[in-house]
Amino acid sequence: MSARDDHPTNGQSGKSADTAEIVAVSRPAERQASRERRQQYAYRFPRDPRQLGGQFSVAENSQRLLRFFYLERRLSHALGSWTLAIPEFEVKLETGRHLFYHADAAYHLRERLHEQEQTLKQIDAFRDADIDRLIDEVLSAADAPELLVGVHQVLGQALATAYRHHIDRTDSVTDAPTIRALRRILLDYEPMLAWADQALAAYVAGGIDESRLAGWRWHLARLLASIGGVTGADPRTPVPEPLRSAQKPFERSTHPARDGRFVTFCNTGDYDIADGEPRYPAGTYENLRLRFLRTQRDEVDAIEAFGTFLWDIRFMDFQAEYDLARITWDEARHTEIGHRTLLAAGYDPFELPNRLTGSTCRGPMEPAYAMAEINLFGEVGVLKTIGSLIDVAAERHDDLLYHAADFIRADERTHVRKGRHIIRVMTDLGAQELELRTRELFTECLVSLGVVKLDMDVFTVSREDIEHLVGE
Ligand SMILES: [Fe+2]
Ligand SMILES: [Fe+2]
Repeated sequence: MSARDDHPTNGQSGKSADTAEIVAVSRPAERQASRERRQQYAYRFPRDPRQLGGQFSVAENSQRLLRFFYLERRLSHALGSWTLAIPEFEVKLETGRHLFYHADAAYHLRERLHEQEQTLKQIDAFRDADIDRLIDEVLSAADAPELLVGVHQVLGQALATAYRHHIDRTDSVTDAPTIRALRRILLDYEPMLAWADQALAAYVAGGIDESRLAGWRWHLARLLASIGGVTGADPRTPVPEPLRSAQKPFERSTHPARDGRFVTFCNTGDYDIADGEPRYPAGTYENLRLRFLRTQRDEVDAIEAFGTFLWDIRFMDFQAEYDLARITWDEARHTEIGHRTLLAAGYDPFELPNRLTGSTCRGPMEPAYAMAEINLFGEVGVLKTIGSLIDVAAERHDDLLYHAADFIRADERTHVRKGRHIIRVMTDLGAQELELRTRELFTECLVSLGVVKLDMDVFTVSREDIEHLVGE
């Protein structure tokens, strides 16, 4: 007789509520033998205190995770849309990092959703009009401090709380991968939200009206409550009136903003011309070295480029969004590397004029051409020269430049590789056509800025000139 046959409720497996009727068929002799074996077993491993339970089914779990995914995805877009408009150096830089934290949170939630009975196609196609309205309102911030209030103090705080609640409420055994994903997201959230509080305190200490920020925070918190909170499961309250975004739909800026510590130029792409008098003779190692370090600090414009692309191509392809977000963070790091190496090389980084030429041209441009310029010309251009610069740095025992350029070379190679897929998402144009149109548009822009002068009707700036004048 098999174990199944002597089971008293066998054959009634359609019932689910009366499992108490299912009597365990435990045999005393086997039970006793098992006990003895366990007593004789030498190792007393740590006991796992987790219990079965939890409040969500797979369907309920994925319903909540899908909303979290969407909010994270939209927050990465949202921060991207403001990268040009934020003037303050530190805030622009952190925003480049934070938009990747949100894209990465979306990435991990998407992976988990795919394990919870959702296809990637369904996940990527998910939209929520309430959340979109909330994001549009957050984006209608009057300035960067208001943006930080909406993104971090309202939405970021609410998501962190919701993630902690989800961790507490879901089954810690059956749904352990969700808990792990949320805990990893919170690892990024903790320093991000703490930084935002400190940055807002700095804005207030520096003269920004605290009551204006408090009013905006209250308005957005009410709007969030009106859609049932980040989970959508809280009781809904009336929508606060009026909504700025209803009166004037949000549009991203097209102009690169800088704070008052910077001196900027966009009438040339050449540092020696911008400086009036070159700091080192042209062609010397010293000249190339300083140009490299300044270019890195001035990659604050690459945060603007890739962040803006993320906004401009939102929803076209998740992988392209994710790669753009990661590249934006990398460019924020390059900016940090530039700032720190300039300090280590004996400069106050703000004494060196900041090149705005590339960002001024790219800002209003269609993403495919702006991307072709920064990726196919700028980043490919860097790879043509950085190898020999690193070799000379090694010969001269210039450890500072060697260390920085070594990591930057690896990053830029990665950007060129990821760029291929991103460009395919942005345009159907073939390589030649894309390059020609990009050169034409940049010629037009460089002429309008006075960077180059036209001496014949059909003149188009060469690839090499673009690499030099608006390259990275
Ligand atoms: Fe870079
Ligand atoms: Fe790059």
